[in-house]
Amino acid sequence: MKIGFVGAGGMAKALAGKWSHAHEIMLSGRDMDRTREAALAIGVMSGTAQEAVAFADVVVLATRWEDVFTAIEAAGGSSAFDGKTVIDINNPVSVETFLTTREDGRALTEAIAAALPGAAVGKAFNMAQVAVWEDQDMTYDGRQMVTLYTADEAADGIIAELIADVGAEPLRLGDNAHAYQLEAAAAIVIKFLFAGSDPHTIFNFIRPETKSIR
Ligand SMILES: NC(=O)c1ccc[n+]([C@@H]2O[C@H](COP(=O)([O-])OP(=O)(O)OC[C@H]3O[C@@H](n4cnc5c(N)ncnc54)[C@H](OP(=O)(O)O)[C@@H]3O)[C@@H](O)[C@H]2O)c1
Repeated sequence: MKIGFVGAGGMAKALAGKWSHAHEIMLSGRDMDRTREAALAIGVMSGTAQEAVAFADVVVLATRWEDVFTAIEAAGGSSAFDGKTVIDINNPVSVETFLTTREDGRALTEAIAAALPGAAVGKAFNMAQVAVWEDQDMTYDGRQMVTLYTADEAADGIIAELIADVGAEPLRLGDNAHAYQLEAAAAIVIKFLFAGSDPHTIFNFIRPETKSIR
């Protein structure tokens, strides 16, 4: 697949670094020197947000959550995303209250899907700190990490495949109406991380039928 990142920070580097063996990747950011440096460090391409979206079959929105809609505009606006799969990894969480910043009870993912009607959209990778996604082996306490995600029907297969490609087990929670729950769950993790917990403080979803003790 061709995967374009809007954003070239910690999460973009961690996920792109995992996918670069199997997929073509382009990172993008506003500061081109910093973006080039990030891309060179993991051996992938760099460009502007517009170039990354035009290049991609799959777009990962990996700015800070506050910048998502500005970045979509900078990438060419809604129509630039037509026909693409878009993965929202963002956590709209206040690091003062550790509550979701969404006031309408609906997820950021749903707002993104509404803004990009020509795209297939889902949410994934939001529930663990960047250091977790950098791990080569995603086995914790003898169990493969289960990555909950939401997706509309059109995005489902691709997102599941990309979760498997980072070494985790994909588990679809439902369509993007459920993304709010993933954002709220991430707020719990973020609260403990900001209080000083180890970056590997994560939820795992244990199902006896998929127990993978090695
Ligand atoms: N960090 C974590 O542990 C973690 C874990 C799970 C989920 N998340 C979520 O993932 C998202 C990214 O987090 P992060 O830690 O990777 O953030 P980060 O390190 O701050 O990176 C944000 C990136 O976005 C770029 N950017 C900002 N505006 C842009 C625009 N208009 N067009 C293109 N690029 C733009 C920035 O580069 P320039 O300044 O050069 O533009 C930077 O490379 C956040 O929403 C966060 O909630 C983070």
